[in-house]
Amino acid sequence: MHKSIQEEIKVSYRHRIFFTRGSFMKDNLLLRDLMIEGAQNSPLPKKALFIIDENLASARPDLPSSIEQYCQAFHQEIELTSSPVLTPGGEAVKNSYPAITRIQELIEQNKICRHSYVIGVGGGALLDMVGLAAATAHRGVRHIRFPTTTLSQDDSGVGVKNGINAFGKKNFIGSFAPPFAVINDFDFIRTLPVRDKRAGYSEAVKVALIRDSDFFLELEKMADQLAVFNEEAMESLIHRCAALHVRHIATSGDPFEFGSARPLDFGHWAAHKLEQITQYAVRHGEAVAIGIALDVIYSRRMGYLQESDCNRILNLLESLGFELFHPGILDRNHNDEYTVLAGLEEFREHLGGILTITLIRGIGDGFEVNTMDQEVALQSMLELKERFGSESESARSGQNIEPSAQNSLNAKNAVSTLNS
Ligand SMILES: NC(=O)c1ccc[n+]([C@@H]2O[C@H](COP(=O)([O-])OP(=O)(O)OC[C@H]3O[C@@H](n4cnc5c(N)ncnc54)[C@H](O)[C@@H]3O)[C@@H](O)[C@H]2O)c1
Ligand SMILES: [Zn+2]
Repeated sequence: MHKSIQEEIKVSYRHRIFFTRGSFMKDNLLLRDLMIEGAQNSPLPKKALFIIDENLASARPDLPSSIEQYCQAFHQEIELTSSPVLTPGGEAVKNSYPAITRIQELIEQNKICRHSYVIGVGGGALLDMVGLAAATAHRGVRHIRFPTTTLSQDDSGVGVKNGINAFGKKNFIGSFAPPFAVINDFDFIRTLPVRDKRAGYSEAVKVALIRDSDFFLELEKMADQLAVFNEEAMESLIHRCAALHVRHIATSGDPFEFGSARPLDFGHWAAHKLEQITQYAVRHGEAVAIGIALDVIYSRRMGYLQESDCNRILNLLESLGFELFHPGILDRNHNDEYTVLAGLEEFREHLGGILTITLIRGIGDGFEVNTMDQEVALQSMLELKERFGSESESARSGQNIEPSAQNSLNAKNAVSTLNS
Protein backbone atom coordinates (compact mmCIF):
# COMPACT_ATOMS: atom_id res chain seq x y z
CA MET A 1 0.00 0.00 0.00
CA HIS A 2 1.21 3.49 -0.86
CA LYS A 3 0.70 6.37 1.52
CA SER A 4 -0.45 9.59 -0.01
CA ILE A 5 -1.22 13.16 0.96
CA GLN A 6 -3.80 14.91 -1.16
CA GLU A 7 -5.27 18.37 -0.89
CA GLU A 8 -7.38 20.30 -3.31
CA ILE A 9 -5.69 23.59 -4.28
CA LYS A 10 -8.20 26.13 -5.50
CA VAL A 11 -7.06 29.36 -7.06
CA SER A 12 -9.51 31.70 -8.66
CA TYR A 13 -8.65 34.44 -11.10
CA ARG A 14 -10.52 37.55 -12.09
CA HIS A 15 -9.95 38.03 -15.78
CA ARG A 16 -10.66 41.63 -16.75
CA ILE A 17 -10.72 43.24 -20.17
CA PHE A 18 -11.32 46.99 -20.30
CA PHE A 19 -12.28 48.92 -23.42
CA THR A 20 -11.25 52.54 -23.72
CA ARG A 21 -9.62 55.23 -25.85
CA GLY A 22 -6.81 57.64 -25.05
CA SER A 23 -5.34 55.47 -22.29
CA PHE A 24 -2.46 57.83 -21.62
CA MET A 25 -4.45 61.07 -21.60
CA LYS A 26 -4.35 62.53 -18.11
CA ASP A 27 -8.12 62.49 -17.83
CA ASN A 28 -8.21 58.73 -18.42
CA LEU A 29 -7.86 57.24 -14.94
CA LEU A 30 -8.22 53.59 -15.89
CA LEU A 31 -4.57 52.58 -15.60
CA ARG A 32 -4.00 54.70 -12.51
CA ASP A 33 -7.02 53.22 -10.77
CA LEU A 34 -5.96 49.67 -11.60
CA MET A 35 -2.57 50.30 -10.11
CA ILE A 36 -4.04 51.86 -6.98
CA GLU A 37 -6.31 48.86 -6.63
CA GLY A 38 -3.30 46.57 -6.69
CA ALA A 39 -1.50 48.67 -4.08
CA GLN A 40 -2.94 46.67 -1.16
CA ASN A 41 -2.79 49.63 1.25
CA SER A 42 0.84 50.39 0.53
CA PRO A 43 1.38 54.17 0.37
CA LEU A 44 4.33 53.78 -1.99
CA PRO A 45 3.93 54.25 -5.74
CA LYS A 46 3.88 51.04 -7.74
CA LYS A 47 6.76 50.39 -10.10
CA ALA A 48 5.94 50.09 -13.78
CA LEU A 49 8.17 48.91 -16.60
CA PHE A 50 6.71 49.60 -20.06
CA ILE A 51 7.72 47.51 -23.08
CA ILE A 52 6.49 48.96 -26.37
CA ASP A 53 6.28 47.41 -29.83
CA GLU A 54 8.81 49.29 -31.98
CA ASN A 55 6.54 49.33 -35.05
CA LEU A 56 3.76 50.84 -32.97
CA ALA A 57 6.17 53.47 -31.65
CA SER A 58 7.20 54.33 -35.24
CA ALA A 59 3.54 54.82 -36.12
CA ARG A 60 2.89 56.72 -32.86
CA PRO A 61 6.11 58.61 -32.08
CA ASP A 62 4.25 60.53 -29.37
CA LEU A 63 3.53 57.35 -27.38
CA PRO A 64 6.65 56.99 -25.18
CA SER A 65 6.47 60.63 -24.07
CA SER A 66 2.69 60.37 -23.46
CA ILE A 67 3.36 57.42 -21.16
CA GLU A 68 6.09 59.35 -19.35
CA GLN A 69 3.81 62.36 -18.90
CA TYR A 70 0.97 60.15 -17.66
CA CYS A 71 3.17 58.50 -15.06
CA GLN A 72 4.58 61.89 -14.06
CA ALA A 73 1.06 63.25 -13.57
CA PHE A 74 0.29 60.33 -11.25
CA HIS A 75 3.73 59.99 -9.68
CA GLN A 76 2.22 59.36 -6.28
CA GLU A 77 0.68 56.17 -7.57
CA ILE A 78 2.97 55.12 -10.42
CA GLU A 79 6.75 55.01 -10.47
CA LEU A 80 8.06 54.71 -13.99
CA THR A 81 11.31 52.82 -13.43
CA SER A 82 12.85 53.75 -16.78
CA SER A 83 11.82 55.30 -20.07
CA PRO A 84 9.52 52.96 -21.98
CA VAL A 85 11.63 50.29 -23.64
CA LEU A 86 11.15 49.82 -27.39
CA THR A 87 11.32 46.20 -28.56
CA PRO A 88 10.91 44.80 -32.08
CA GLY A 89 7.38 43.54 -32.71
CA GLY A 90 6.04 40.95 -35.13
CA GLU A 91 6.64 37.21 -35.23
CA ALA A 92 10.42 37.65 -35.35
CA VAL A 93 10.39 38.56 -31.66
CA LYS A 94 8.84 35.18 -30.85
CA ASN A 95 11.57 33.39 -32.77
CA SER A 96 14.33 34.60 -30.54
CA TYR A 97 14.97 33.49 -26.98
CA PRO A 98 17.33 36.42 -26.24
CA ALA A 99 14.30 38.75 -26.34
CA ILE A 100 12.99 37.00 -23.20
CA THR A 101 16.33 37.23 -21.45
CA ARG A 102 16.49 40.93 -22.22
CA ILE A 103 13.08 41.60 -20.61
CA GLN A 104 14.02 39.48 -17.59
CA GLU A 105 17.24 41.47 -17.32
CA LEU A 106 15.23 44.70 -17.37
CA ILE A 107 12.91 43.32 -14.68
CA GLU A 108 15.93 42.58 -12.53
CA GLN A 109 17.69 45.92 -13.21
CA ASN A 110 14.51 47.94 -12.58
CA LYS A 111 13.85 46.04 -9.35
CA ILE A 112 10.41 44.96 -10.51
CA CYS A 113 8.96 42.78 -7.75
CA ARG A 114 5.87 40.59 -7.62
CA HIS A 115 3.82 43.66 -6.67
CA SER A 116 5.17 45.79 -9.52
CA TYR A 117 3.94 45.81 -13.10
CA VAL A 118 5.37 44.86 -16.45
CA ILE A 119 3.20 46.60 -19.02
CA GLY A 120 3.34 45.38 -22.62
CA VAL A 121 1.98 47.61 -25.37
CA GLY A 122 1.93 46.03 -28.80
CA GLY A 123 0.79 43.29 -31.15
CA GLY A 124 0.05 39.70 -30.16
CA ALA A 125 3.59 38.55 -30.86
CA LEU A 126 5.21 41.11 -28.58
CA LEU A 127 2.60 40.50 -25.87
CA ASP A 128 3.19 36.73 -26.02
CA MET A 129 6.90 37.31 -25.50
CA VAL A 130 6.57 39.94 -22.76
CA GLY A 131 3.92 37.83 -21.01
CA LEU A 132 6.30 34.88 -20.85
CA ALA A 133 9.13 37.02 -19.46
CA ALA A 134 6.74 38.47 -16.84
CA ALA A 135 5.38 35.04 -15.94
CA THR A 136 8.82 33.59 -15.33
CA ALA A 137 10.72 36.42 -13.60
CA HIS A 138 10.34 35.96 -9.82
CA ARG A 139 7.96 33.10 -10.81
CA GLY A 140 5.54 35.71 -12.06
CA VAL A 141 5.24 39.47 -11.74
CA ARG A 142 2.05 41.41 -12.44
CA HIS A 143 1.45 41.91 -16.10
CA ILE A 144 -0.84 44.42 -17.81
CA ARG A 145 -1.43 44.10 -21.53
CA PHE A 146 -2.32 46.79 -24.02
CA PRO A 147 -3.03 44.85 -27.23
CA THR A 148 -2.66 47.11 -30.27
CA THR A 149 -3.76 45.00 -33.25
CA THR A 150 -7.23 43.79 -34.18
CA LEU A 151 -6.15 40.20 -33.58
CA SER A 152 -4.60 40.84 -30.21
CA GLN A 153 -7.61 42.89 -29.06
CA ASP A 154 -10.16 40.30 -30.13
CA ASP A 155 -8.23 37.11 -29.37
CA SER A 156 -4.60 36.64 -28.40
CA GLY A 157 -4.23 39.57 -26.00
CA VAL A 158 -7.42 38.79 -24.07
CA GLY A 159 -6.44 35.20 -23.33
CA VAL A 160 -4.37 33.67 -20.54
CA LYS A 161 -1.50 32.23 -22.57
CA ASN A 162 1.91 33.47 -23.56
CA GLY A 163 4.80 31.90 -25.41
CA ILE A 164 7.52 31.95 -28.00
CA ASN A 165 8.42 29.62 -30.86
CA ALA A 166 11.30 27.17 -30.54
CA PHE A 167 12.70 24.12 -32.32
CA GLY A 168 10.72 25.15 -35.37
CA LYS A 169 7.43 24.81 -33.44
CA LYS A 170 4.91 27.57 -32.73
CA ASN A 171 4.47 28.50 -29.06
CA PHE A 172 6.71 25.64 -27.90
CA ILE A 173 7.93 27.53 -24.82
CA GLY A 174 5.18 29.27 -22.89
CA SER A 175 2.86 29.25 -19.93
CA PHE A 176 -0.68 29.89 -18.80
CA ALA A 177 -0.61 33.08 -16.75
CA PRO A 178 -3.71 35.29 -16.58
CA PRO A 179 -2.66 38.95 -16.84
CA PHE A 180 -3.49 41.40 -14.06
CA ALA A 181 -5.66 43.25 -16.59
CA VAL A 182 -6.03 43.81 -20.31
CA ILE A 183 -6.75 47.26 -21.70
CA ASN A 184 -8.12 47.36 -25.25
CA ASP A 185 -7.62 50.93 -26.45
CA PHE A 186 -9.31 51.32 -29.84
CA ASP A 187 -7.16 54.32 -30.74
CA PHE A 188 -4.24 51.98 -31.36
CA ILE A 189 -6.04 50.27 -34.22
CA ARG A 190 -5.88 53.45 -36.34
CA THR A 191 -2.19 53.22 -37.19
CA LEU A 192 -2.25 49.55 -38.19
CA PRO A 193 -1.33 48.54 -41.72
CA VAL A 194 -4.36 47.27 -43.65
CA ARG A 195 -3.24 43.64 -43.42
CA ASP A 196 -3.14 43.80 -39.63
CA LYS A 197 -6.45 45.61 -39.41
CA ARG A 198 -8.01 42.74 -41.34
CA ALA A 199 -6.07 39.78 -39.92
CA GLY A 200 -8.01 39.73 -36.63
CA TYR A 201 -11.34 39.33 -38.44
CA SER A 202 -10.67 35.64 -39.04
CA GLU A 203 -10.64 34.92 -35.29
CA ALA A 204 -14.10 36.52 -35.06
CA VAL A 205 -15.39 34.35 -37.92
CA LYS A 206 -13.84 31.35 -36.16
CA VAL A 207 -15.49 31.90 -32.80
CA ALA A 208 -18.84 32.76 -34.46
CA LEU A 209 -18.70 29.52 -36.42
CA ILE A 210 -18.11 27.29 -33.42
CA ARG A 211 -20.18 29.17 -30.84
CA ASP A 212 -22.54 31.90 -31.97
CA SER A 213 -24.64 31.90 -35.13
CA ASP A 214 -26.10 35.34 -34.28
CA PHE A 215 -22.60 36.79 -34.31
CA PHE A 216 -22.03 35.20 -37.71
CA LEU A 217 -25.17 36.94 -39.02
CA GLU A 218 -23.92 40.19 -37.53
CA LEU A 219 -20.57 39.74 -39.29
CA GLU A 220 -22.36 39.14 -42.58
CA LYS A 221 -24.34 42.34 -42.07
CA MET A 222 -21.24 44.35 -41.20
CA ALA A 223 -19.00 42.77 -43.86
CA ASP A 224 -19.05 45.78 -46.22
CA GLN A 225 -18.22 48.13 -43.36
CA LEU A 226 -15.53 45.83 -42.04
CA ALA A 227 -13.99 45.52 -45.51
CA VAL A 228 -13.37 49.28 -45.50
CA PHE A 229 -12.31 49.26 -41.83
CA ASN A 230 -15.19 51.32 -40.49
CA GLU A 231 -14.25 51.99 -36.86
CA GLU A 232 -17.67 51.39 -35.39
CA ALA A 233 -17.95 48.01 -37.12
CA MET A 234 -14.42 47.07 -36.02
CA GLU A 235 -15.13 48.03 -32.41
CA SER A 236 -18.27 45.97 -32.42
CA LEU A 237 -16.41 42.93 -33.86
CA ILE A 238 -13.56 43.28 -31.36
CA HIS A 239 -15.85 43.63 -28.35
CA ARG A 240 -18.05 40.64 -29.18
CA CYS A 241 -15.18 38.42 -30.26
CA ALA A 242 -13.20 39.23 -27.09
CA ALA A 243 -16.30 38.54 -24.98
CA LEU A 244 -16.78 35.11 -26.59
CA HIS A 245 -13.14 34.21 -26.03
CA VAL A 246 -13.18 35.31 -22.41
CA ARG A 247 -16.49 33.53 -21.80
CA HIS A 248 -14.98 30.34 -23.19
CA ILE A 249 -11.90 30.64 -20.99
CA ALA A 250 -14.01 31.31 -17.89
CA THR A 251 -16.76 28.75 -18.42
CA SER A 252 -15.40 25.89 -20.51
CA GLY A 253 -14.06 24.18 -17.41
CA ASP A 254 -10.58 23.95 -18.87
CA PRO A 255 -8.99 27.41 -18.87
CA PHE A 256 -5.47 26.01 -18.82
CA GLU A 257 -6.15 23.42 -21.50
CA PHE A 258 -5.36 20.25 -19.60
CA GLY A 259 -7.67 18.24 -21.86
CA SER A 260 -7.06 17.36 -25.49
CA ALA A 261 -9.79 19.52 -26.97
CA ARG A 262 -9.21 23.10 -27.92
CA PRO A 263 -12.29 24.39 -29.71
CA LEU A 264 -10.89 27.89 -30.09
CA ASP A 265 -8.23 26.40 -32.31
CA PHE A 266 -10.80 25.71 -35.05
CA GLY A 267 -9.02 26.26 -38.38
CA HIS A 268 -5.65 26.42 -36.63
CA TRP A 269 -4.05 23.03 -37.30
CA ALA A 270 -3.32 23.96 -40.91
CA ALA A 271 -2.83 27.64 -40.11
CA HIS A 272 0.09 27.12 -37.75
CA LYS A 273 1.83 24.99 -40.34
CA LEU A 274 1.19 27.48 -43.13
CA GLU A 275 2.70 30.26 -41.03
CA GLN A 276 5.85 28.18 -40.61
CA ILE A 277 6.03 27.08 -44.25
CA THR A 278 5.87 30.69 -45.38
CA GLN A 279 8.32 31.75 -42.67
CA TYR A 280 5.61 33.98 -41.22
CA ALA A 281 5.15 35.93 -44.46
CA VAL A 282 1.50 34.91 -44.04
CA ARG A 283 0.18 36.55 -40.88
CA HIS A 284 -1.46 34.41 -38.18
CA GLY A 285 -4.92 35.81 -38.91
CA GLU A 286 -4.48 35.39 -42.68
CA ALA A 287 -3.39 31.78 -42.16
CA VAL A 288 -6.40 31.20 -39.89
CA ALA A 289 -8.73 32.44 -42.66
CA ILE A 290 -7.23 29.83 -45.01
CA GLY A 291 -7.34 27.20 -42.24
CA ILE A 292 -11.03 27.91 -41.63
CA ALA A 293 -11.77 27.69 -45.38
CA LEU A 294 -9.99 24.33 -45.47
CA ASP A 295 -11.85 22.91 -42.44
CA VAL A 296 -15.16 24.18 -43.72
CA ILE A 297 -14.66 22.47 -47.10
CA TYR A 298 -13.46 19.36 -45.27
CA SER A 299 -16.60 19.45 -43.07
CA ARG A 300 -18.74 19.66 -46.22
CA ARG A 301 -16.86 16.85 -48.00
CA MET A 302 -17.27 14.63 -44.93
CA GLY A 303 -21.02 15.23 -45.04
CA TYR A 304 -21.19 17.23 -41.80
CA LEU A 305 -21.92 20.64 -43.32
CA GLN A 306 -24.41 21.68 -45.98
CA GLU A 307 -23.03 23.10 -49.20
CA SER A 308 -25.05 26.33 -48.79
CA ASP A 309 -23.53 26.98 -45.33
CA CYS A 310 -20.06 26.17 -46.64
CA ASN A 311 -20.48 28.72 -49.44
CA ARG A 312 -21.85 31.35 -47.07
CA ILE A 313 -18.77 31.04 -44.89
CA LEU A 314 -16.36 31.18 -47.81
CA ASN A 315 -18.23 34.22 -49.18
CA LEU A 316 -17.99 36.02 -45.85
CA LEU A 317 -14.24 35.39 -45.60
CA GLU A 318 -13.77 36.62 -49.17
CA SER A 319 -15.90 39.71 -48.68
CA LEU A 320 -13.81 40.60 -45.63
CA GLY A 321 -10.87 40.67 -48.05
CA PHE A 322 -9.08 37.41 -47.21
CA GLU A 323 -7.18 35.36 -49.78
CA LEU A 324 -8.28 31.77 -49.31
CA PHE A 325 -5.41 30.00 -51.03
CA HIS A 326 -1.67 30.17 -50.66
CA PRO A 327 0.65 27.76 -52.51
CA GLY A 328 2.34 26.96 -49.18
CA ILE A 329 -0.69 24.87 -48.32
CA LEU A 330 0.48 22.32 -50.93
CA ASP A 331 4.13 22.42 -49.87
CA ARG A 332 5.91 19.05 -49.62
CA ASN A 333 8.60 18.17 -47.09
CA HIS A 334 11.86 16.25 -47.62
CA ASN A 335 9.93 12.95 -47.41
CA ASP A 336 7.64 14.22 -50.20
CA GLU A 337 4.70 14.33 -47.78
CA TYR A 338 2.33 17.31 -47.77
CA THR A 339 3.82 19.43 -45.01
CA VAL A 340 0.44 20.64 -43.77
CA LEU A 341 -0.89 17.09 -43.44
CA ALA A 342 2.29 15.92 -41.74
CA GLY A 343 1.71 18.80 -39.28
CA LEU A 344 -1.38 17.09 -37.86
CA GLU A 345 0.81 14.97 -35.61
CA GLU A 346 2.66 18.07 -34.45
CA PHE A 347 -0.68 19.67 -33.62
CA ARG A 348 -1.68 16.63 -31.58
CA GLU A 349 1.64 16.72 -29.75
CA HIS A 350 1.20 20.41 -28.93
CA LEU A 351 -2.28 19.86 -27.47
CA GLY A 352 -1.34 16.57 -25.83
CA GLY A 353 -3.43 13.41 -25.65
CA ILE A 354 -5.38 12.13 -28.61
CA LEU A 355 -5.78 14.12 -31.80
CA THR A 356 -8.78 16.42 -31.36
CA ILE A 357 -9.85 18.64 -34.21
CA THR A 358 -12.86 20.94 -34.12
CA LEU A 359 -15.11 20.89 -37.19
CA ILE A 360 -18.57 22.35 -37.73
CA ARG A 361 -21.98 20.81 -38.40
CA GLY A 362 -23.59 24.13 -39.09
CA ILE A 363 -22.97 27.82 -38.45
CA GLY A 364 -22.44 28.22 -34.69
CA ASP A 365 -22.24 24.47 -34.15
CA GLY A 366 -18.72 23.18 -33.53
CA PHE A 367 -17.96 19.58 -32.64
CA GLU A 368 -14.89 17.44 -32.25
CA VAL A 369 -13.37 14.57 -34.21
CA ASN A 370 -10.38 12.42 -33.33
CA THR A 371 -9.26 11.44 -36.81
CA MET A 372 -8.84 13.30 -40.05
CA ASP A 373 -9.22 11.52 -43.36
CA GLN A 374 -5.99 12.52 -45.08
CA GLU A 375 -7.34 11.89 -48.57
CA VAL A 376 -10.38 14.11 -47.94
CA ALA A 377 -8.13 16.74 -46.39
CA LEU A 378 -5.94 16.67 -49.50
CA GLN A 379 -8.97 16.95 -51.78
CA SER A 380 -10.07 19.94 -49.68
CA MET A 381 -6.66 21.56 -50.12
CA LEU A 382 -6.87 21.00 -53.88
CA GLU A 383 -10.37 22.47 -53.92
CA LEU A 384 -9.02 25.62 -52.25
CA LYS A 385 -6.48 25.89 -55.06
CA GLU A 386 -9.07 25.30 -57.73
CA ARG A 387 -11.57 27.81 -56.33
CA PHE A 388 -9.29 30.51 -55.03
CA GLY A 389 -5.87 29.78 -56.54
CA SER A 390 -5.82 32.01 -59.60
CA GLU A 391 -7.18 35.05 -57.74
CA SER A 392 -4.49 34.82 -55.12
CA GLU A 393 -1.72 34.44 -57.72
CA SER A 394 -2.62 37.92 -58.92
CA ALA A 395 -3.23 39.26 -55.42
CA ARG A 396 0.19 38.10 -54.31
CA SER A 397 1.77 40.57 -56.69
CA GLY A 398 -0.26 43.16 -54.76
CA GLN A 399 -0.30 43.82 -51.06
CA ASN A 400 -2.38 41.07 -49.57
CA ILE A 401 -0.15 38.09 -48.98
CA GLU A 402 3.04 39.77 -49.97
CA PRO A 403 5.90 38.26 -47.98
CA SER A 404 7.19 40.65 -45.38
CA ALA A 405 10.88 40.75 -46.22
CA GLN A 406 11.86 41.67 -42.70
CA ASN A 407 9.73 38.98 -41.11
CA SER A 408 11.10 36.27 -43.43
CA LEU A 409 14.63 37.41 -42.91
CA ASN A 410 14.29 37.45 -39.16
CA ALA A 411 12.56 34.09 -39.16
CA LYS A 412 15.43 32.61 -41.22
CA ASN A 413 17.96 34.09 -38.86
CA ALA A 414 16.07 32.68 -35.92
CA VAL A 415 16.07 29.22 -37.49
CA SER A 416 19.80 29.39 -37.97
CA THR A 417 20.26 30.60 -34.38
CA LEU A 418 18.28 27.66 -33.13
CA ASN A 419 20.25 25.26 -35.29
CA SER A 420 23.59 26.57 -34.22
N1 LIG B 1 -1.43 33.83 -26.64
C1 LIG B 1 -2.45 33.40 -27.36
O1 LIG B 1 -3.43 32.86 -26.83
C2 LIG B 1 -2.48 33.63 -28.83
C3 LIG B 1 -3.66 33.39 -29.55
C4 LIG B 1 -3.69 33.69 -30.92
C5 LIG B 1 -2.55 34.21 -31.53
N2 LIG B 1 -1.42 34.41 -30.81
C6 LIG B 1 -0.21 34.95 -31.42
O2 LIG B 1 -0.38 36.31 -31.74
C7 LIG B 1 0.58 36.63 -32.76
C8 LIG B 1 -0.05 37.47 -33.83
O3 LIG B 1 -0.42 38.69 -33.28
P1 LIG B 1 -0.84 39.93 -34.19
O4 LIG B 1 -1.77 39.50 -35.23
O5 LIG B 1 -1.22 40.99 -33.24
O6 LIG B 1 0.48 40.28 -35.00
P2 LIG B 1 1.86 40.95 -34.60
O7 LIG B 1 2.08 41.03 -33.15
O8 LIG B 1 2.87 40.23 -35.43
O9 LIG B 1 1.67 42.44 -35.15
C9 LIG B 1 1.58 42.70 -36.53
C10 LIG B 1 2.46 43.86 -36.92
O10 LIG B 1 1.89 45.11 -36.50
C11 LIG B 1 2.83 45.87 -35.73
N3 LIG B 1 2.00 46.68 -34.86
C12 LIG B 1 1.39 46.29 -33.71
N4 LIG B 1 0.53 47.25 -33.31
C13 LIG B 1 0.62 48.27 -34.19
C14 LIG B 1 -0.07 49.51 -34.34
N5 LIG B 1 -1.05 49.85 -33.50
N6 LIG B 1 0.26 50.32 -35.37
C15 LIG B 1 1.20 49.92 -36.27
N7 LIG B 1 1.84 48.74 -36.23
C16 LIG B 1 1.56 47.92 -35.19
C17 LIG B 1 3.71 44.82 -35.12
O11 LIG B 1 4.97 45.31 -34.76
C18 LIG B 1 3.83 43.80 -36.26
O12 LIG B 1 4.79 44.24 -37.20
C19 LIG B 1 1.09 35.31 -33.30
O13 LIG B 1 2.38 35.09 -32.81
C20 LIG B 1 0.13 34.29 -32.72
O14 LIG B 1 0.72 33.03 -32.53
C21 LIG B 1 -1.37 34.14 -29.48
ZN1 LIG C 1 -5.44 32.23 -33.54
